[in-house]
Amino acid sequence: MIQAKNLHKYYDQLHVLKGVDLHIQKGEIVSIVGASGAGKTTLLQILGTLDKPNSDIGIELRINNEDILSMNDKNLSRFRNLNLGFIFQFHQLLPEFTALENVCIPAYIAKKSKKETEEEAIKLLTYLGLSHRINHKPSELSGGEQQRVAVARALINKPAVIFADEPSGNLDTHSAENLHQLFFKLRDEFGQTFVIVTHNEELANMADRKLVMIDGLISNS
Ligand SMILES: Nc1ncnc2c1ncn2[C@@H]1O[C@H](COP(=O)(O)OP(=O)(O)OP(=O)(O)O)[C@@H](O)[C@H]1O
Ligand SMILES: [Mg+2]
Repeated sequence: MIQAKNLHKYYDQLHVLKGVDLHIQKGEIVSIVGASGAGKTTLLQILGTLDKPNSDIGIELRINNEDILSMNDKNLSRFRNLNLGFIFQFHQLLPEFTALENVCIPAYIAKKSKKETEEEAIKLLTYLGLSHRINHKPSELSGGEQQRVAVARALINKPAVIFADEPSGNLDTHSAENLHQLFFKLRDEFGQTFVIVTHNEELANMADRKLVMIDGLISNS
C-alpha cells in the first residue's frame, strides 16, 4: 500500500530524514515511536503527501500503486481527498460549521450524496460518543470532543490509508481506548491501513508492527 525509498528531508542545515525506506501492506496497522525531534511528524507529513521530500537519487514514494512524486497539485489534492485520511493533534475544524457539517465536508468535496453522507457522519459521531453534540460548533466543544470530530472527518470517505499523529493525545483513557478499538474495527471491516505516530505505549504495542524512529532513520523494534 505504501512504498517509500530513500526519503530525505532537510530544514536548511538540519538533516531530519536520512534516507527512510518503508513498506506498509494493505490492512496493516503500523505504529511509529521515537524521541521528540526524531522526525516522526516530518515523515508522516511526507508519506501523507502534505510535504515533499528533498529530491535524491533512488527516491520513491508510491501509495496505492500511484507515483505520488510525479503528480501535479490538482491530482494530488484529489488523490488525498479520495484515498487519505489525517488525524493530527492540531486538527483544524472549520469554526463556522457544526460538528456534523465539518465531518461531512470531505464527502461533499468527493461529490457524495447529502443523505448518505449525513447518515454515515452521524454513525461515526455516535460511535465516538458525540451523538449529543453534532449540531454544535467547534468553539462550543471541548478539546477532546473537537479531536473526535476531526477523527470522524478523517474517516468519512473511508480512505484507504489513515495517517494519525498522536491521535489520542488529547483524550481521556476511556475515549482513547474507544478510538484505538475503532482503528482495529475499521481495519477488520474495510481493510484500511493505519500509520500511527504515538507516545502511547499501549497503542504502539497493539499495532501489527512497531517501528522506532531514531535520528532520522527507521528501525524495526
Ligand atoms: N518546518 C520546520 N522548519 C524547521 N525545522 C523543523 C520544521 N519542522 C520540524 N523541524 C525540526 O525537525 C526535527 C524533527 O521534527 P518532527 O516534528 O518531525 O519531530 P517528531 O519526531 O515528530 O517530534 P515530537 O515527538 O516532539 O512530535 C526537529 O528538530 C524540529 O525542530
Ligand atoms: Mg511530532
